[in-house]
Amino acid sequence: MNNPNLKQQVDSRRTFAIISHPDAGKTTITEQLLLFGGAIRQAGTVKGKKTGNFAKSDWMDIEKQRGISVTSSVMQFDFDGKRVNILDTPGHEDFSEDTYRTLMAVDSAVMVIDSAKGIEAQTKKLFQVVKRRGIPIFTFINKLDRDGREPLELLEELEELLDIESYPMNWPIGMGKGLEGLYDIYNERIEFYRPEQYEGERFVKLTDGKIAGAHPLKEKSIYEDVLGEVELVREAGDQFDLEKIGRGDQTPVFFGSALTNFGVETFLESFVDLAPKPHAHKTEEGEAVSPYEEEFSGFVFKIQANMNPNHRDRIAFVRVCSGTFERGMDVFLGRTAKKMKLSNVTQFMADARENVEEAVAGDIIGVYDTGNYQIGDTIYEGKLKVAYEELPSFTPELFMKVTAKNVMKQKSFHKGIYQLVQEGAIQLYKTYLTDEYIIGAVGQLQFEVFQYRMLNEYNAEVVMTPMGNKIARWIDPEQLDERMSSSRNILAKDRFDQPLFLFENQFAMRWFADKYPDVELKSLM
Ligand code: G4P
Repeated sequence: MNNPNLKQQVDSRRTFAIISHPDAGKTTITEQLLLFGGAIRQAGTVKGKKTGNFAKSDWMDIEKQRGISVTSSVMQFDFDGKRVNILDTPGHEDFSEDTYRTLMAVDSAVMVIDSAKGIEAQTKKLFQVVKRRGIPIFTFINKLDRDGREPLELLEELEELLDIESYPMNWPIGMGKGLEGLYDIYNERIEFYRPEQYEGERFVKLTDGKIAGAHPLKEKSIYEDVLGEVELVREAGDQFDLEKIGRGDQTPVFFGSALTNFGVETFLESFVDLAPKPHAHKTEEGEAVSPYEEEFSGFVFKIQANMNPNHRDRIAFVRVCSGTFERGMDVFLGRTAKKMKLSNVTQFMADARENVEEAVAGDIIGVYDTGNYQIGDTIYEGKLKVAYEELPSFTPELFMKVTAKNVMKQKSFHKGIYQLVQEGAIQLYKTYLTDEYIIGAVGQLQFEVFQYRMLNEYNAEVVMTPMGNKIARWIDPEQLDERMSSSRNILAKDRFDQPLFLFENQFAMRWFADKYPDVELKSLM
C-alpha cells in the first residue's frame, strides 16, 4: 500500500519486551509506563491481584484461576512522539515457549532486576535468548526504596553472570529509608526522591558533576560518597557506546523504584530516545526485508486460542515487518499460498481490545483466526512473496508421558495433539521403540494449558505422567545404537523421527559423554 508517511511512522515505533524473574517488579513498571503513556488511568489495572480487578491480559480461565498471565499480551501507547509497543511476557516461573517466541518479535528488551536479589534464574534464561538475537538490552534495577545490594556489586554481577558490558545511566544516592535520589549521569543532573525536602525541585542540573552554590544535599556526606563512586565507575568502567548497545554487547543500566514511581519517567525518556526503531527482518534465503518496503509483510509469532470461551476464537499475533497494514486488505499466507482477507484484526491496549484500522512495521496486530495460521507463518501483500526465517525451537526441559483417558476417544486425542503441536503449544516425542507419547515443554504451565485445551477444544481427557526434568540432546541417526539407552538416558524420537536422548541430569549426560566420546550431543536453542 502506498503510505507517504511510512518512514516517519516506522521510525517512531519502539517495540520491546520486559523480561524479569517473578516479583522483580515487571508488572509494576509496566503499569507506570502505561500511566505515563496515558494508556491507563489508574495503577492496578494491569494486575489487580488484590482488588480482584483482573488484568485484561488474563484472558483464559486458567489464567484467572491462578491469577497469572499465561499469555504474552501487547500494549500500545504514545509517548514523546513515539509509539511504544510493549509485549508482555508471563511473569510466573512457569513460563513457556510463548515467552521465548515473543522475544523473536521485538526490537529490544528491558530487563528488570530486584536490587536486593540481583540476577535470578529466569532473568538469566530470558537474557540468553535475547542475547543470542543480538538486540539491545536495557536494564532497570528496581526497588531502590528498599535496602538492596551495592550498585557496584550489582553491575559486577551483571557483567560476570551475563557476560555483557554495563553502563550506568544513573546512580543511586542512598537506598531504602536513606534514599535521597539519583545522580543522572547521562543527563548530568540530580533527581530527588523527595523533592519537597530539596526546595521543591525534582531535578537539579549539575556542572562538572557538582551541585552549584549552597544546596541542602551538599551538606550530606552521602553525596560525597556517590561522587566518589561515580568517579570510580567513570574511570574504571566501560564508556557509553551506542554501537555496542545496538548490538546487545552493552546494556545501559537505570536504577529506580517502580512502586514509588521514581526514576521510571527518566528511564522511559532515555529509553525511547536510545532504543532502536524497527529493524529489517531476514528471510529464509538470508536477505533482509526493509521495514520501509511499501508492501505489507509480517510473521505469526504466537497463537492464542480460546481467548474468549464463549466465542472459541483464536488470535494469531503478527509482527508487522514491512509496509502498512490496512483493515480489510488481502494478503497471502506463504505456506499455503492461500489468499486471506484481514478484516477482523485487533490491536491491544491495556484496557481495551480495539479494532485496528492501520498499523506499520514494528507494530503487532492480532488477526482473528479460524485455524489457518501456524506459528512461524509469513503473510505478505501482493508481489512481496517473502518467507521469514523459521522461528527457533527451544529445547524443552520438562517431560510428561501422555495417553488418552478414554480409549474410545483416540481419534480426537490424536487430532488434538497434532494440532496443538503444529500450533507450537507443546513439543511431541515418542519413545524410540514403543512409540509411547511424550510431550515436552520449557515450563510447567504449557502442560496445564495443553490439558485444558485438549479437553475444551477436542473433548479429549488426557492422563499425564510426569517424567520430571530431563536434558534433551539430539544425536546423529547414524551414530545411534539402541543399546546406548537406559533408564537414566531414555531414547526417544522427535516428530521428524530424529533420535534424541532424555538424560536424567547433568551427571548422566557426562557419564554418557565419557562412555561414548564420539557421539555428538546437540541441543536446540
Ligand atoms: P512481577 O510482575 O515481576 O512478578 O512483579 P510485580 O510488579 O508484581 O511486583 C512484585 C512485588 O514487588 C509486588 O509486591 C510489588 O508491589 C513489589 N514492587 C514492585 N516494584 C517495587 C519497588 O520499586 N519497591 C518495592 N518496595 N516494591 C516493589 P507484592 O506485595 O508481592 O504484590 P501485590 O500483592 O502488592 O501485587
